Amino acid sequence: MPDLRGKRILLGVTGSIAAYKAADWLRSLVKEEARVTVVMTEAAERFVSPLTFSALSGQSVYRDMFDEAPDRIMAHINLSREADAILVAPATAQTIARLAHGMADNLLSTVILAARIPVIICPAMNSFMLSHPATQDNIRRLESFGYHFVQPGSGELACGEIGDGRLSDWDVARETLLSLFQPNDLKGQTVLITAGPTREALDPARFLTNRSSGKMGFALARTARRRGAEVILVAGPVQLSDPPGIEAVHVTTAEEMRRAVMDRATTADVVVKSAAVADFRPLVCADHKIKKGQQGIQLDLIKNPDILAELGAMRTHGRILVGFAAESRDHADEGQRKLREKNVDLMVVNDILGASTGFDVETNQVTLIDRREALTLPLLSKEETADRIWDKVLQLQSESSAA
Ligand code: PMT
Repeated sequence: MPDLRGKRILLGVTGSIAAYKAADWLRSLVKEEARVTVVMTEAAERFVSPLTFSALSGQSVYRDMFDEAPDRIMAHINLSREADAILVAPATAQTIARLAHGMADNLLSTVILAARIPVIICPAMNSFMLSHPATQDNIRRLESFGYHFVQPGSGELACGEIGDGRLSDWDVARETLLSLFQPNDLKGQTVLITAGPTREALDPARFLTNRSSGKMGFALARTARRRGAEVILVAGPVQLSDPPGIEAVHVTTAEEMRRAVMDRATTADVVVKSAAVADFRPLVCADHKIKKGQQGIQLDLIKNPDILAELGAMRTHGRILVGFAAESRDHADEGQRKLREKNVDLMVVNDILGASTGFDVETNQVTLIDRREALTLPLLSKEETADRIWDKVLQLQSESSAA
């Protein structure tokens, strides 16, 4: 399961006003059934009481190097042995400096120095402190040790300034955490994914579109990023936030999607077209709102470019091309036909009539059709489905390099 269930996370909280946000992160971790142990620095306790963290985690908080309680002796060694990852949030300039210089002058820095598990640092500080060469040097030094950094957000800071230095959103840190528990098997590859619907304008007020929410394509983008890929996501109009760590390109029409894809496809090792591109668009878009004072109107539609077929026609050796087929009947035959006609390596066929499959739901049930075989997957979350598609892409790549 691509989530944090059962993962043992050591949450290090340090002395920033953003410490209160760490309490919310802890709640999210506990909700996902992660097992969280909290270590607080003395400065962190000035901002939030340890009681808050112990109430939320269901465990007392570790604070003191010299605690004599029997289960706390040698905590600096045992805590990291009993965790899968350390998440420092918020991480102050002071803590980052401490860690960069291998100092062991409080429990948290000592635990981290003694740890041989992944460490994720989520900085939060004033923007001048963050951009100071000393902090930047310390961050680079920690990166050279293999520590992972979560880019702080930008906006109004507690000190009143506007700039970089806000503790990132939980979703961003969560993605970094999840990537630690995934194989890095797409590292070195660039994947181009399309998602969502397109909109084709009729007049300034109306458009033709479809029911695609973008959830399938965004799940593909998130999972590919977690597995180490560079991700370019070309998305039609959707109500979803861009996944962190990817290049997102927002488009509206099929023609815009075509241009965005064609401009970038040559850099991609894999192209996955999960977008529901409108097959037709109005021949003309009226300059003014079409009036309803008539019995009915006739719309002249013309065909949109078939982006996938165009990619299939200019295939280069080594690039894997994946299409989706949204079908309401004859699923297997239609999938086979589109595989051949659009000249792709893999067709992902999904049923758009099922209550839990296809458009705008969290799950999907697909058949993966390649030139050799058809594999029907069970009903899975869209993220799990996406992971199975990446597994198949890797299999096709290894078969093609062995051929
Ligand atoms: O976004 P969600 O709500 O999560 O829903 C997911 C989904 C149902 C949209 C998705 O799983 C899906 O099936 N996407 C493909 C929808 C579709 O357009 O299917 P199609 O059978 O009409 O097209 C076949 C393929 O050709 C698709 O890869 C499509 O992107 C591509 N195409 C189609 C028309 C066109 N003009 N250009 C294209 O590139």
